Amino acid sequence: MLIIMLGAPGAGKGTVSAILTREFGIPQISTGDILRGEVKKGSDLGKKADEYMKTGKLVPDDIIMGCVEARLAIDDCKGGAILDGFPRTIPQADALKALLTKMGLKLDAVVNLEAPEELLIRRLTSRRTCANPSCQAIYNIYTRPPKNEGVCDICGSPVLQRDDETEEVIKNRLKIYRDTTLPLLDYYGREPVFFSLSCIDAGETVDEIKKKMKKG
Ligand code: AP5
Repeated sequence: MLIIMLGAPGAGKGTVSAILTREFGIPQISTGDILRGEVKKGSDLGKKADEYMKTGKLVPDDIIMGCVEARLAIDDCKGGAILDGFPRTIPQADALKALLTKMGLKLDAVVNLEAPEELLIRRLTSRRTCANPSCQAIYNIYTRPPKNEGVCDICGSPVLQRDDETEEVIKNRLKIYRDTTLPLLDYYGREPVFFSLSCIDAGETVDEIKKKMKKG
């Protein structure tokens, strides 16, 4: 099963993808998590990506496609994957289509999480993320705090605010989302329908979202 999770920064793509991963037993591929892992390692790719990420700009399509192709080729993706935060531009969506054909994979569903901008800003400014690159569990100081303040429930690493969570950078990320990523909804809406396309109110509780996705 191959699912694309669309939605603005803070809509809950990472949170919902982590639930679906447990539900369907397929991996979550978050391009944001892959890039943050590379930044933390200090690799050449990470250094290049960091120049874009720290101001909220999108990382160039060729870098992203290289990461996604390498990740989808790993054995655990044989039964499919959840693509969290990818594609984010029309050229990425075109390149994904070609890649899936090449790999003999089929897209099953595109899920769009919708939420008003003030809710997105509130969620992003109150989110905390596990600093361990191989965990990156998502918390929220109001709705999902870790059991012990500042410590990840899963791996015990520090739980911190991301570098791209200042108000200025968040506003830039939301603008880029509106200009560059939102048009993907029309893009997938126009495709001959071999997969399901659903829009879900991301302002609901995580349990409600889970129920709606099961029905869809
Ligand atoms: P990325 O890491 O993908 O960030 P994003 O898309 O901006 O999305 P976020 O991770 O900020 O939010 P989310 O929707 O996953 O929400 P979450 O579940 O955490 O990308 C970061 C950067 O990397 C980009 O800016 C770009 O530079 C680069 N990049 C990545 N992919 C790229 C690509 N394909 N092309 C080019 N560049 C790329 O939830 C947010 C908070 O809300 C959490 O605290 C959570 O606990 C809470 N929450 C979530 N859902 C609920 C709910 N239903 N009720 C209550 N609280 C909730």
